[in-house]
Amino acid sequence: MSVIQHPSFGEVAEDRIIILDTTLRDGEQSPGFSMNLAEKLRLAEALAELGVDVIEAGFPIASPGDFEAVRAIAEAIRGPVICGLARSGREDILRAAEAVKKAARPRIHSFLSTSPLHMKHKLRMEPAAVLEAVAGSVMLARRYTDDVEWSAEDGSRTESDFLCRCVEAAIRAGATTINIPDTVGYALPEDMARIFIMLRERVPGTEKVILSTHNHNDLGLAVANTIAAIRAGVRQVECTINGIGERAGNAALEEIVMALRTRHDAIPAANRIATENILRTSRLLSTITGFDVQPNKAIVGRNAFAHEAGIHQDGVLKHAGTYEIMTPESVGWTRSSLVMGKHSGRAAFRNKLKALGYDGIGDNQLNDAFRRFKELADRKKAVYDEDIVALVDDEVLRAHDRIRFISLDVHAGSRRKPEATLEIEVDGTPLAATAQGDGPVDATFRAIRALFPHDSVLRLFSVGAVTEGTDAQARVTVRLEENGKLVDGQGADTDTIVASARAYLHALNKLLVKRARTEPKALSA
Ligand code: KIV
Ligand code: ZN
Repeated sequence: MSVIQHPSFGEVAEDRIIILDTTLRDGEQSPGFSMNLAEKLRLAEALAELGVDVIEAGFPIASPGDFEAVRAIAEAIRGPVICGLARSGREDILRAAEAVKKAARPRIHSFLSTSPLHMKHKLRMEPAAVLEAVAGSVMLARRYTDDVEWSAEDGSRTESDFLCRCVEAAIRAGATTINIPDTVGYALPEDMARIFIMLRERVPGTEKVILSTHNHNDLGLAVANTIAAIRAGVRQVECTINGIGERAGNAALEEIVMALRTRHDAIPAANRIATENILRTSRLLSTITGFDVQPNKAIVGRNAFAHEAGIHQDGVLKHAGTYEIMTPESVGWTRSSLVMGKHSGRAAFRNKLKALGYDGIGDNQLNDAFRRFKELADRKKAVYDEDIVALVDDEVLRAHDRIRFISLDVHAGSRRKPEATLEIEVDGTPLAATAQGDGPVDATFRAIRALFPHDSVLRLFSVGAVTEGTDAQARVTVRLEENGKLVDGQGADTDTIVASARAYLHALNKLLVKRARTEPKALSA
């Protein structure tokens, strides 16, 4: 292997691994994980701070909302290459080209299925036509940018000779990155290694392009397959934060990056991820989507660095290396730190936000977040970093909401019918209503329904705690379903009912965004 000249990255050394994050595309397209424009922009900012090389920002042809998100990210985010996905048709590629054109370094990523099963049943295309479409799509994309990625969808189940011919056609047409996905999560690590070794041996031109891998987790092997591909010579890996993505998800960025860092002895590969930002990015994604990772999730799960067994605790106290293969600090875990109390001023609050990574927060958002911090500090003995993060994320993400929470009064108890009086603002107009219900949460949700009638059905209501203690903020997730579409909303507050109201309103705001999008066409990626 040698140095490769790449249009976006210049010289790519042989041990360099390019990290393509597809949280906003493969991750976002999975049920329940959809995000609105403000949320996508916030996550894209965090991905840039994390140091990813490429942000796959969306699938522009999928809907006007997807197009707008890719366009806005391309315009606003500097640092990473911004990539838009496209099938091989002309319309798809033109839409992707238009969406990424304002990026400092734009990429078009076109894909087409190459396995016998997909060609016959999904595409209904003969192999010769597929080959022609591969070359045609890459050539068209190259008219708009020098950085073109081509993917063989269902590549891991593609017949070897045909895969080689498709890859050769894509390289001849001008592709600068060739990605082989394990679309259905079927491959074993040795399969992925074999494919890349074969391509490097058999296909002329592979030595001049970046080979890439993209693995799904249906058998729980996505990260193992990614590592195997790296060892077989790929220089780009495609992954998502928290491993979100279609079905069982994609390879988790944090697991790949920490495997590379921790086992550098065995896999001498370099990447540019600022690992100490990993936890923050993972939590931001959870806040946006409403899905926490499971406690035992590697790297970012609550228990990932918790030592419960006495013998382990004893060992760690004597020497952390006895049971810790990486330090918690290296991925952003810190001891919960008491930050400020109710006497802390705006300047201290701004400094704290800076230290937590919220450099670019606007004055209005700062004022609103400061007001909520003061309210929180009045109610809660100790305000931790986690509380501030929950509060500020809530403020930043709600900035474009049409329906906003103003206040809530609830009367409840074992001797009276619970009653909630709620004030909200819809498109700037204040509205108030009182409703009774089977419990305080039910009464609150009925008040919301009275103020903003809608047909969606409540599918999930879950409550967790941001930190520990009885005065901890509750973090509530509400899932609503409308016409088969699911959205999750989140809200945090020391009062569980207020957090519930905020979560419900957040979900409603997301539904409004979804309604505004036109129905996506039948797409596959
Ligand atoms: O899983 C897959 O095959 C994909 C491609 C579009 C890269 O997501
Ligand atoms: Zn995928």
